[in-house]
Amino acid sequence: MTLPPGFVTLYARLDRQGPGLAGDVLWALEVLGIEGAVRVCDAGCGTGADCVTLARALPSGEVEGIEAIPAFVAAAEARLRDLPNARVSAGDMAALSGPYHLIWSAGAIYFLGVTEGLRGWRGALAPGGAAAFSQGVYLGGDEPQAVRDFWAGEPELPDRAAVREQVEAAGYEVIATRLLTGAPWQAYYDSLAREAAALRPGATPEMAAVLDGAEREIALWRQAPERIAYELVLARPR
Ligand SMILES: C[S@@+](CC[C@H](N)C(=O)[O-])C[C@H]1O[C@@H](n2cnc3c(N)ncnc32)[C@H](O)[C@@H]1O
Repeated sequence: MTLPPGFVTLYARLDRQGPGLAGDVLWALEVLGIEGAVRVCDAGCGTGADCVTLARALPSGEVEGIEAIPAFVAAAEARLRDLPNARVSAGDMAALSGPYHLIWSAGAIYFLGVTEGLRGWRGALAPGGAAAFSQGVYLGGDEPQAVRDFWAGEPELPDRAAVREQVEAAGYEVIATRLLTGAPWQAYYDSLAREAAALRPGATPEMAAVLDGAEREIALWRQAPERIAYELVLARPR
């Protein structure tokens, strides 16, 4: 995956590259009954925030982050250094080997497509294993223009019913879902706004364009914070 260098510079400075809180990871582990000497993959782990939460919550388990962007892998390696049960590799989450008791993937499965991603991960799941992923969703009804503008880069964005259909089309059963609005986005955009402001002085034109894009995204989110949502989906192969 090739991204503009300014984009990578900005996002590598963040704790995470999309909305999500440690509590979401803990909720998924509890609902799915994932504990003990389990093997977990964080697919598209970015700079590794959820690898940290998973490794701390599963001290007898093993956590493997897989990430395509080398600068994010380097940032994740640095933050996982003191966690003996977690590691991160540069690689393609479309080609996982496993076997994993849980494939966790925050804000990344859309790169593969929900159905395609889950189908591909099936062979990497241990018997009884599960996948947990978060995905942007429309909430339905008449969306304000800010919501449409926010998601303009993702013309195929599903609503919640369509996500369920995509999961079922992959041969999985939905175990539980959790809507992520408000607080996880606030935390993410607070960090993005802070790092964008820090990089603004002396920014090159390329970096200035990246910072403008990030600030526009934040401004759109602020217009409709309760209507811009990720859905966290827990699913198991049937
Ligand atoms: C929106 S970010 C989310 C990062 C992290 N999960 C988080 O929530 O902070 C999506 C991540 O998926 C990674 N990604 C996309 N396609 C990938 C692939 N095929 N293999 C590995 N990583 C991939 C991107 O590089 C990016 O870091």
